[in-house]
Amino acid sequence: MTSLTDRFNSQTYKIKVSDIRQFDERVSSIKDMLKLTLGEPDFNTPEHVKLAGIQSIENNESHYTGMAGDLGLRKAVSSFMHTKYNVKFAPENEVLVTIGATEALSASLLAILNPGDKIIVPTPIYPGYEPLITLARAEPVYIDTTSNDFVLTPEMIEAAITEHGATVKAIILNYPSNPTGVTYNRKEVEAIANAVKKHNIFVISDEIYSELTYGDTHVSIAEYAREQTILINGLSKSHAMTGWRIGFILAPKELVGQIVKVHQYLVTSATTMAQKAAIAALTTGMNDAQPMKAEYLKRRDFIQGKMEKLGFKIAQPNGAFYIFAKIPAGYLQNSMEFCVDLAEKNRLAIIPGSAFGAAGEGYVRLSYAANMDKLEIAMERLTDYIHGQKSEELESSRTL
Ligand SMILES: Cc1ncc(COP(=O)(O)O)c(C=O)c1O
Repeated sequence: MTSLTDRFNSQTYKIKVSDIRQFDERVSSIKDMLKLTLGEPDFNTPEHVKLAGIQSIENNESHYTGMAGDLGLRKAVSSFMHTKYNVKFAPENEVLVTIGATEALSASLLAILNPGDKIIVPTPIYPGYEPLITLARAEPVYIDTTSNDFVLTPEMIEAAITEHGATVKAIILNYPSNPTGVTYNRKEVEAIANAVKKHNIFVISDEIYSELTYGDTHVSIAEYAREQTILINGLSKSHAMTGWRIGFILAPKELVGQIVKVHQYLVTSATTMAQKAAIAALTTGMNDAQPMKAEYLKRRDFIQGKMEKLGFKIAQPNGAFYIFAKIPAGYLQNSMEFCVDLAEKNRLAIIPGSAFGAAGEGYVRLSYAANMDKLEIAMERLTDYIHGQKSEELESSRTL
């Protein structure tokens, strides 16, 4: 008799344990490890948001909300997104509250993808998308953006669509980007929108880091390509609320009307008390991200400065809280080997670039969602490693 472990959906076997997990397993037994691996804010949820959550529990708000989410929250989402990003979506039928951006992505991808469909995925990219595409039996079409400092251009999109034709169903955008921190200005967003508007494809735009944009204000692609955009956002990064699991989808009503059915059968609705707390986050707390952003910016400048001095090349990160750096020549170029060696020799854990797709090979990702004391120690350890490797190299060349 075949074992039940051989009888899963064949796509399940194709989903791999991520390089991030593999790396973590390899280094987690090392003592006194300093980890800059986490993709979540190190700040606490703002006090007034926590109080709104407590109040909701006290008020016995322990029942389901409507499928698409509490109407008060949908109104708050709609108004927040309009005020901040000049996009207009009706709270009644164009906003859907999800279990984090993650469920927004699963519900959207499951709702739109047929087996054999192709979906454009610029890389390096957040590793949360590909497994969902695989589960839907669709196929990613990768665009490697490394040669253009991780900036996707309309020409790249055009070339991919020309090559793959009508089987292209959608494109995924993520800006500011995890892992590169790269984002797009108004002109660039408009140009990408013009490229996609020529084609009848969905734009799944994961803008979860929008509130953590340094310099110019974030521009949503929904401002320019509203009719085909499934805009994804949430409170995980803006309000340091990863554990509350609140995300949202904004899209034209015809699209939300389809996605909401998938959402219903995946999760019914998001957690009620978390939704009530989210109202506080988006109304009285609409600028809660500002002080966190100011802190992230200082950290970015510190890390970027130190790493560039050590010879790492970094495409300008203008958002999120990551540095994606090219490993300098003369050091281990395989990113997994580099990160394991650094962890074993100098007790600093950072993520191999290969975790973000083949285009990320040769790079490393650091998260600066950690306090300055930690970041200073991290940079000392990285400096010791880089200098140590240099002297090892000199030593071996002398003995030759
Ligand atoms: C680009 C991107 N999208 C989505 C998510 C998931 O967000 P959430 O915690 O709201 O599900 C993350 C988390 O790291 C992310 O970096």
